Amino acid sequence: MGMIGELTRSFRSPMPAHLVVLRMLDTKLGLLSYPAKLGLGSIARPQYGHCLLHAAKLAAKLGRKRISAIEFGVAGGNGLVALEMHAEQVTRTTGVEVDIYGFDTGQGMPPPADWRDLPYLFQEGSFRMDVDKLKARLRKAKLILGPVESTVDSFFERENPAPVGFVVFDLDYYSATTVALKILEGPHGNLLPRVACYVDDMVGDLDWAYSEFTGELLAIREFNEKHNHIKVAPVQGMRFFADRVPMQWHEQIFCAHLFTHPDYGRPVADFTQLPLEQAR
Ligand SMILES: C[S@@+](CC[C@H](N)C(=O)[O-])C[C@H]1O[C@@H](n2cnc3c(N)ncnc32)[C@H](O)[C@@H]1O
Repeated sequence: MGMIGELTRSFRSPMPAHLVVLRMLDTKLGLLSYPAKLGLGSIARPQYGHCLLHAAKLAAKLGRKRISAIEFGVAGGNGLVALEMHAEQVTRTTGVEVDIYGFDTGQGMPPPADWRDLPYLFQEGSFRMDVDKLKARLRKAKLILGPVESTVDSFFERENPAPVGFVVFDLDYYSATTVALKILEGPHGNLLPRVACYVDDMVGDLDWAYSEFTGELLAIREFNEKHNHIKVAPVQGMRFFADRVPMQWHEQIFCAHLFTHPDYGRPVADFTQLPLEQAR
């Protein structure tokens, strides 16, 4: 997008004008720190970076030096490439190493199973991957190709991954997302006690009409109904925290709570006392 197009789009956003200008300057000139870029949105896919940074910080507090991040639904690979870039930044910031896995058929969307897969939005054959081109571009991410129906169940045994701390759910379909969510049923040793999740297909205009009755949100609702000790819950009010500029993706971040994970109750809060302040 050209400078004029970018300006026009930016000034239509609800962000205050001075932040729009700062974001544009930082995007061009790289003025801000990595966490500041995530807060302002002046870096590609800040939602990936925010979740990954959080997962790495949690891992560090629990004494872990390595974590895994997963993208379910890779398509051309732009998300996986962005995840690699964020992994580098996160390792530089926290010292925690990140392994990355991308699950995809490698051949685009399979046919929708029924109305729950939102066939008015998603069709067979969309989002094909150029496998060779993507493999040549990836620096560390591992592609796991094939339908998730035949790759997810064996993942932990095959890879014995470092604890999974961040998962992107971007398979579009209800049916595939129900399978991807099984990742949260893995061995506790291969999962952080709280897993950051980004759910891609849940916000949009009326023509998309996402709801809890179809697609990824239905898969999450049913997963929660089936599991007493694992719940995938939206993160309440995160747009108000850390001087963050409100952005759409704040609505799309969930946390998978593994209540019976041995580390679930380990203290990680940064503040533990609230002494009485001086009278003014
Ligand atoms: C919207 S695309 C992913 C986009 C990507 N995350 C990005 O940000 O560029 C959805 C992907 O899900 C994959 N997919 C859908 N159903 C699948 C299934 N049952 N098994 C594996 N992959 C599937 C499709 O091949 C498609 O590439």
